[in-house]
Amino acid sequence: MNIILDCDPGQDDVISLLLAMASPGELEILGVTTVAGNVPLALTQRNARIVCEIAQRKDVKVYAGCERPMLRKLVTAEYVHGDTGINGIEVYDPCHPLEAQHAVDYIIETIRSSEPGTITLVPTGPLTNIAMAFVKAPDIVAKVKSIVLMGGAMREGGNCTPSAEFNIFVDPQAAQVVFECGRPLTVMGLDVTHQVLCTSDRIERIRGLGSKAALAAAGMLSFFDQHDTAKYQSAGAPLHDPCTVAYLLQPGLFEGRQCNVSIETQSELTMGNTAVDYWHVTDKPRNVNWIFAVDAEGFFDLLVSRLARYSD
Ligand code: BDR
Ligand code: CA
Repeated sequence: MNIILDCDPGQDDVISLLLAMASPGELEILGVTTVAGNVPLALTQRNARIVCEIAQRKDVKVYAGCERPMLRKLVTAEYVHGDTGINGIEVYDPCHPLEAQHAVDYIIETIRSSEPGTITLVPTGPLTNIAMAFVKAPDIVAKVKSIVLMGGAMREGGNCTPSAEFNIFVDPQAAQVVFECGRPLTVMGLDVTHQVLCTSDRIERIRGLGSKAALAAAGMLSFFDQHDTAKYQSAGAPLHDPCTVAYLLQPGLFEGRQCNVSIETQSELTMGNTAVDYWHVTDKPRNVNWIFAVDAEGFFDLLVSRLARYSD
């Protein structure tokens, strides 16, 4: 399967990238595109390049995209991820190059020159790059096979406002463009990601693998755990973003329901809310496969077995 990973690393984005990079048999990573989100763009693109070095994937190309949301001011989340976005490891200036092309143009060119229905987009940050590509080049939309993204919430409520999940809140206009694009969408919202908890046992399973990549993953997850366990009073932090890649690798781990999801873009109070028509009370198009359940043990078995493929 050909994929473009669009991300804002972020510790959980990193785990998602490591999971994908450890799965070359199933996933062909055409490129990694980065966007402003958890931290500003200069840091998300740097962090993605660090991940390529940790994973020893010189072949993976990294592109920098949009520095700010389409209409709104950028909101970041250093209070969750630390000042580097990936606190928990030693952060440095990587040698892995940044491609000169803008991520939006890379996405457009790559989809345009592909066979229709052969590329899956995997966004795990604000949807700015994807929406900008669809706005700049509407002809590419029909060629996209599907989009599997992390964002939104229904039963869990919001994590950065009472109503909104972070990725959708940061760029609700972009989310609206993507959710209305008409291509098959699978959405991992907080309702499912809050079932995937990084308990200390699970982090120790990863640390026990012993490779540089596994130690980096465990270090980041230990940092990530601190804020979220205090916030949610839970046994571990929710591991949001890797749900997307895990779904591509093993969809049977997840349960979803086809329904309409619309994005709130008007109300300052509920900005970025994902209005999920779970009970089909409207006749709006069922644009989303809304994922609501996961086999969390199976998820971690998959994650650990893939991270075990890294060696130094
Ligand atoms: C999402 O927001 C970010 O903080 C995480 O990386 C994840 O993509 C969770 O709301
Ligand atoms: Ca993210």
